[in-house]
Amino acid sequence: LIGVSRREIPDEEFRNQAREAIAQYSRRAPDEQVLDGLLSRLQYIGNSFDDTAGYAKIGTAMDALDADAGQPLSRVYYLSTAPEYFPVITEALRENGLHHNESSEVRAVIEKPFGTDLASARKLQEVVHGVFRERQVFRIDHYLGKETVQNVMAFRFANMMFEPIWNRNFIDHIQITGAEDIGIGTRAGYYDHAGALRDLVQNHMLQLVALTCMEPPASFEANKVRDEKVKVLQAIPPPTLDEVPQMTVRARYTAGVSGGQEAPSYLDEAGVPEDSNTETFAALRLEVDNWRWAGVPIFLRTGKRLARKVTEIAVQLKPVPHLAFQSKGSVGVQPNQLILTVQPNEGVSLSLGAKIPGSRMRIRPVNMEFLYGTSFMSQSPEAYERLILDAMRGDATLFTRNDEVDAQWSIIDPILQAWHSRDGAGVPTYEAG
Ligand code: BG6
Repeated sequence: LIGVSRREIPDEEFRNQAREAIAQYSRRAPDEQVLDGLLSRLQYIGNSFDDTAGYAKIGTAMDALDADAGQPLSRVYYLSTAPEYFPVITEALRENGLHHNESSEVRAVIEKPFGTDLASARKLQEVVHGVFRERQVFRIDHYLGKETVQNVMAFRFANMMFEPIWNRNFIDHIQITGAEDIGIGTRAGYYDHAGALRDLVQNHMLQLVALTCMEPPASFEANKVRDEKVKVLQAIPPPTLDEVPQMTVRARYTAGVSGGQEAPSYLDEAGVPEDSNTETFAALRLEVDNWRWAGVPIFLRTGKRLARKVTEIAVQLKPVPHLAFQSKGSVGVQPNQLILTVQPNEGVSLSLGAKIPGSRMRIRPVNMEFLYGTSFMSQSPEAYERLILDAMRGDATLFTRNDEVDAQWSIIDPILQAWHSRDGAGVPTYEAG
């Protein structure tokens, strides 16, 4: 593992930082011997990303590792940097001939955000494709690494009972919520240019839509899965500028109490300009215009400083066509709702109508529940553990392909444009919490 950044840090200090971080963040105490072995293989190279000539140092270090191993090792470049450096680093790798290797795999993992709108994403794509083949590129969306997000596919495609009703004939609407109680912390520099729509909807939430609505893939091979997801995204008609006000809401938090703590107004967060028009809440109504989903509204909502953290996909079924026991006081009868909770209480719950014990036929909703915690009694790996391991193994199933990014931005772009054309009117607000 070779760390590269602008600062000069001795290898030893880099290893110490890694040791401390592992102690602090690892899910379990590491095996000291394994850890020592890993840390002894860490090195650090100080090089500013735009110093193209300096990349030769990285090449030399990797060659030395190959020589040590007696064979060419696969290489993964992980670009966890400010996004403006993605093209700079990619180009510099090419100029130094580090983007391919005759006898081993070379891959690039690219963090989000992949572009800030459709045009910039395409421009970045051009640079990336000028250097790497698509199969070498691993674009991170950490939601795909979450166990519960992968469970959407397991749940849909490993059970017979849901797929027959998973369509417009039985489903009334779908609500996908990504609520957070945290604010923006110290990330104003990034967040104020992003906002909720770019930060969470363009990537994480649209991925949840794709997984919820996709057709069953022929196999779980990376491109088969991504082929199906991209079809969903491409079937979502981007709104026209005139449609945007009817199908979206944006808002920004003001001071309040959130997560049990006093929270400042967004405009008072350190680093936020006072004339900011950035939204911290976004809600959208979309449709997937295809045979399976035509006419089913899909509601997405996400925001910072809401009442609590919860990410879930709620699938609301249609009401029963006829209720025979109406006269018997079945007041509580509600359509079935299936909730896939991504976090924090990972699981699946299905609401059913059940008879209240007693001599009369009274019905009320009850829940049938599956909870990860109690069913598996084990801790799920962190999303990043899974994704970094997949990138090292070369499995791109849980990474975003170029055409997915393109389709995502095609939906988001007109919303951004329409919102910003109304910036003069100000952004509506909500109280934190
Ligand atoms: C990140 C966003 O991609 O996702 C953050 O940049 C957000 O603003 C985070 O808080 C949410 O991730 P999670 O895993 O906590 O739901």
